[in-house]
Amino acid sequence: MRKPFVAGNWKMNLNKLDSIELIEGLSQGLKDIDTEKVDIAVYPPFVYIDSVVNTAKSSPIAVGAQDFYFESNGAFTGEISTDMLKDVGCIHALCGHSERRHVLGESDELINKKVTAAILGGLLPTLCVGELLEERQAEKTEDIVINQVKKGLEGLAKEKVSAVTLAYEPVWAIGTGLTATPQQAQDVHAMIRKLIAELYDQQTADQMRIQYGGSVKPNNAEELFGKPDIDGFLVGGASLKAEDFKAIIAAVIK
Ligand code: PGA
Repeated sequence: MRKPFVAGNWKMNLNKLDSIELIEGLSQGLKDIDTEKVDIAVYPPFVYIDSVVNTAKSSPIAVGAQDFYFESNGAFTGEISTDMLKDVGCIHALCGHSERRHVLGESDELINKKVTAAILGGLLPTLCVGELLEERQAEKTEDIVINQVKKGLEGLAKEKVSAVTLAYEPVWAIGTGLTATPQQAQDVHAMIRKLIAELYDQQTADQMRIQYGGSVKPNNAEELFGKPDIDGFLVGGASLKAEDFKAIIAAVIK
């Protein structure tokens, strides 16, 4: 049985006070949920990680980073290493979020270096994959996603890949209010799981958690989670409101 995993990607939103208040509100709200049954994480902007870790201390909320650099230290102006993230209490890290790929221009090669560095550095990476609208319309979803998963995991042995969570996030559904239908999401998740079985083995595939992301809201989470290969969510907009994020978490433990 895969334990559901729900994570909130705050992107470049909130300020220090908002971040603290959001965690306080969420921790309070989670008291009436059986949080043993789900893994929960938030990814704040770098500068708020420290205070979010402190505020989240006695709650079930783990903290992760939205990005990082693959080198462990040195002359890399503006970058943040996995050691630094661990030092301030991060457990998780996103790799290859669609905004990093399509707005900041990250390549599959760079993303693979980050996934590898996260594992070596003791962080749990979430590798994000997903097709653009024109790629879906051109029926290229399968090719794009297979390529992103293969390249993202390249060179990782079976023992290492078990630290990875995958997140399928169709780019056309991110922040647009358009969600993949539960069946569209399930089809891609099942295809990814089959690919993992081919690249590794069935046991690795059965254990790998695959989150769905893209306009996940309290009103669609339960139906999406009803699909057998959807193991939780990577939530953007709805993770900025304690009530909404809590409702999404509650939907996966029903
Ligand atoms: P969204 O973002 O929930 O606002 O669509 C999801 C994501 O980018 O991870």
